[in-house]
Amino acid sequence: MPGDYTDRSMQKQGAKHPPPRVRAGIAGGCGRSEGAKGDSAGRGCRRDVHVPRSPRCLAGRGRPAHRGGTVSGAIWFPGVALAFTLRAVQAEERSDPPTFPARTPPPTRACIPQRLGLKCLLQKRDTFPQEHAMFKCAFLGCGPRARGHARAYKAVQRGQIAAICDLDEKRLNDFGAEFGIATRYRDAHEMLEREKPDLLHIVTVPGLRVPTMTIAVEHKVPVAIVEKPIALQGEDWRALKALGEAGPTRFAVNTQLHFHARNLELKRDVAEGRIGEVRFIDVSARSTPLDQGVHVLELAHSYNGFAPFTSVFGQVGGVEDLASRQPAPSMAAASFRFANAVSAMMVCGLCAPLATAQESRYHHKRISVYGTRGFLQWTMWTWERQTRDGGYERGEHHYGVEDDLAQARLTEACFDWLEDPAKPHPCCLERSLEQFNAILGLYTSALRSRPIELPCDPPDGLLEALKTRLTL
Ligand SMILES: NC(=O)c1ccc[n+]([C@@H]2O[C@H](COP(=O)([O-])OP(=O)(O)OC[C@H]3O[C@@H](n4cnc5c(N)ncnc54)[C@H](O)[C@@H]3O)[C@@H](O)[C@H]2O)c1
Repeated sequence: MPGDYTDRSMQKQGAKHPPPRVRAGIAGGCGRSEGAKGDSAGRGCRRDVHVPRSPRCLAGRGRPAHRGGTVSGAIWFPGVALAFTLRAVQAEERSDPPTFPARTPPPTRACIPQRLGLKCLLQKRDTFPQEHAMFKCAFLGCGPRARGHARAYKAVQRGQIAAICDLDEKRLNDFGAEFGIATRYRDAHEMLEREKPDLLHIVTVPGLRVPTMTIAVEHKVPVAIVEKPIALQGEDWRALKALGEAGPTRFAVNTQLHFHARNLELKRDVAEGRIGEVRFIDVSARSTPLDQGVHVLELAHSYNGFAPFTSVFGQVGGVEDLASRQPAPSMAAASFRFANAVSAMMVCGLCAPLATAQESRYHHKRISVYGTRGFLQWTMWTWERQTRDGGYERGEHHYGVEDDLAQARLTEACFDWLEDPAKPHPCCLERSLEQFNAILGLYTSALRSRPIELPCDPPDGLLEALKTRLTL
């Protein structure tokens, strides 16, 4: 089947041997019975992947199939790869949320980016007679957080880091050496002019959102992932709104908790009515509303099917973080209402509950959702679920491992958006600005001591006004 196979995990690594997580065998899954059982050595395909009528697993461990897409794989012999493709009639990927578009199957023709009029990296393999495309990705900012974005490329299937940029030469070179990226720039304009990436990761502090995102727009970068928080106060919020509406760059905001596998599963439970009608959402985090409130508010919004915010009533306290590079009140408590009559409570800062056994204030992000027939809770290290059908269940997960996988899903969702504009990114700029408007409404509510209708037109100078109020 010439032109009909793609195992990008192998192409990406330029490997003549299968990547560590794929043994010789099919990549995609076995028939349901084999998938459920695996082989006697426990190497069977994932229990949560079902590809009816696919061939028996030869010896290996399946990798996730795309829902209803093409299942591809290869058997490796010394110097030769035997590749094949099957149509998946009905594959189920547990981590796909039901409320979002199904994942795009891998491209079955060469060079999807080129067909979209984008630049791409063409990869030639000795063992594969054809050319395959990868989206070309670049980084603006090589600080600590950018490492999380780069690590995710171990799991990203359709993109490759082609170039990086940082003003700081040492950071640039350390990062390049760590992730094996030789194409390095100190000037973002020069990088974008020469490299013309399909995807740009903007991983800088929030005070630099407007200038760095403007650079992406000036160079017509097709899609950019920009770190959270998206803004600081009303002035930059308005500038970013105008920037996003003007185009041509599409922005996704890096609230990657959205894509944690357990969150996707629990969101599906809510969407399928497994806890009945949602009545109340309770979110908390022990860092500031700006640093971590934006993460848990995104969860409240997405668990609630992105129903519009209608009002907020809140209080803030603590000046310690107002002078930091992420200036914000250290604590906040607020009640939000949504258009579907659901209400949510958010508590941030050291007044928030201890949600896990971890000592760091950064490890207590949490969401609980209460319905008429049960409840769900996700924390960074645990989850719980009470449903009428399933009773009470609980479990644990490793935040770091899950976070890199979530980061990869967030990145892949950008490629879905590039391939099909009708599949907007779940964390697109428009939504993130809607959530941030609710935070600005919370600040305004605290200053005016009354509820604020949302969306609001935030006043200028909010941080200065909060500083004055909180230091009185
Ligand atoms: N999503 C998450 O879970 C998560 C976790 C941690 C941090 N973050 C966020 O990540 C962001 C970045 O954090 P960080 O600690 O990596 O920041 P940082 O300031 O340490 O690193 C940013 C890097 O960008 C570079 N830079 C800035 N402007 C540039 C320009 N014009 N051209 C080239 N390089 C430029 C700086 O030199 C710096 O090395 C923050 O907004 C933070 O809130 C998110």
